[in-house]
Amino acid sequence: MKSFYITTAIDYPNGKPHIGHAFEKILADVLTRYHRFTGKKTYFLTGVDQHGQKMVKTAEAEGVNVATLTKRNTKGFIRLWDKLDVRPDGWVETTDDRHKACVQAILSHLEAKGALYKKSYAGFYSVRQEQFLTDRDRDEQGDFGSEWGEVIEIEEENWYFRLSDHADWLKKAVEANDIKILPEFRRTEVLNAIDRAADTDLCISRPKERMSWGIPLPFDPDFVTYVWFDALINYISFAGYRKTEGADLPEFDTLWPADLQIIGKDILVPAHAIYWTCMLHAMGFESHEMPTLLVHGFWNIKGDKMSKSLGNIVDPDQLADQFGVDALRYYLCRDIRAGKDSDFDTSRLIMLYNTELANDLGNLLNRSINMTKGFCNSTIASTETDNEEDLALKKSLSQTTQEYQSAMNQCEVSEALKAINQHVTHCNGYLERQKPWEMKKDEALLPRVAEVLSHTAESCAHLAILLRPILPEAAEKILAQLNKPEFGQLSIDDLKWGLLEQGHQTGKPKPVFPRILVENQES
Ligand code: MSP
Repeated sequence: MKSFYITTAIDYPNGKPHIGHAFEKILADVLTRYHRFTGKKTYFLTGVDQHGQKMVKTAEAEGVNVATLTKRNTKGFIRLWDKLDVRPDGWVETTDDRHKACVQAILSHLEAKGALYKKSYAGFYSVRQEQFLTDRDRDEQGDFGSEWGEVIEIEEENWYFRLSDHADWLKKAVEANDIKILPEFRRTEVLNAIDRAADTDLCISRPKERMSWGIPLPFDPDFVTYVWFDALINYISFAGYRKTEGADLPEFDTLWPADLQIIGKDILVPAHAIYWTCMLHAMGFESHEMPTLLVHGFWNIKGDKMSKSLGNIVDPDQLADQFGVDALRYYLCRDIRAGKDSDFDTSRLIMLYNTELANDLGNLLNRSINMTKGFCNSTIASTETDNEEDLALKKSLSQTTQEYQSAMNQCEVSEALKAINQHVTHCNGYLERQKPWEMKKDEALLPRVAEVLSHTAESCAHLAILLRPILPEAAEKILAQLNKPEFGQLSIDDLKWGLLEQGHQTGKPKPVFPRILVENQES
């Protein structure tokens, strides 16, 4: 059986991961956990892109050996992903020998079939972006804009990939939607870019004397592989493509093509939509063997890009310490709109956590379990009633589950959370109308009290299971309080009304989402 295969862009470990990197990993982790929950075998691959000039420059600036810097920073990424409950199945490091062997095997294959050639070229070169520039890269004033950093004029021999041979194929494949790019508006962006970007061949080497931190070309060892050509291959090298005998890697046929390659908008064109697809096509992959690209927007700060020079980089590690992993995961999933940019705002993180988790869901859970304990001896009653309010609550849950599933299938985690919150609101309203705390004063009404509380406890069980891909820790705590930790193993198809059987004993209530208190004011 082919696994559902999810990858993310691999990060440059030339600094610390910021909130944008963390969002991408959390999104991939959430979707991985969700697809597993639907019963699919799922494999999540991510890691770090360790070669290239950026690493060399940072190492020089810090006065350390580039290999030492790479190892040290890579450890920081691994530690943080673990802390944020991001659990990949496979971990990429492009300095890994298994990856190097695969890149070299691909290069030899492409060279042997005439897809690569060597030529001399004189032109402008962006040191920051590590690429040659053409007149098309100039701005309206005819200059190379600041995004290119230092631009120098150089003449040198290099190896080129005949990218242009694949331009017609690529255009047809994207037009026909054989190569899937989500959301839809990003596909239009790619179509607009193909004519511009795919008619020039791609320089895939750098002379070793200028750049030694890369994978040597097997047929011309004075050159190393251009960082993008090397990095893009991670999605197949670590999936077992052309693996050397005995290498501890998956079976390629069980994974490829990737069901989702999650990337930010900045690396869609030309890297993923043009270079990567044409590289795969040159290797012999057909249109139906291309990965689906899921493109997300950027997290900005008050409309500005996060950057070292603006000093506005948000550190996810510090936020996790300050507010907890669940609060951070919740906010990042809740406040991003499909494929669009969002502004990171700590006060919104606190507000959304305090209202939607602490007040709404937290109170619902706490009231349900507390009152079940106090009024019903912690015992669940029958949830098969024909009271109109009960039927409406059941209907609301089934609508939430459907909307959640359809949103998650489209990778719209924020919409899935809104669906969950609708049912939380419904349950809180139900409790307010039923008032079990009033009813319990009349002994004759005690059976009804038990029914009402069993309906909200049942709802809490479903909500925790639905939330589990997004907030694994909180879901586990909720299920433990319901005395049903084993519900964590259920799949979405098991979610039928009546999970909590009559007579079941619930556990001890304990706040799962303590309010975040802000100095001098409570949000
Ligand atoms: N190393 C390349 C990717 C190679 S993939 C074969 C790279 N690395 S990166 O560290 O610059 O970016 C890693 C990922 O983080 C990319 O998908 C990028 O779009 C994403 N983000 C970088 N800044 C971001 C935000 N401010 N917001 C959201 N995602 C952002 O590109």
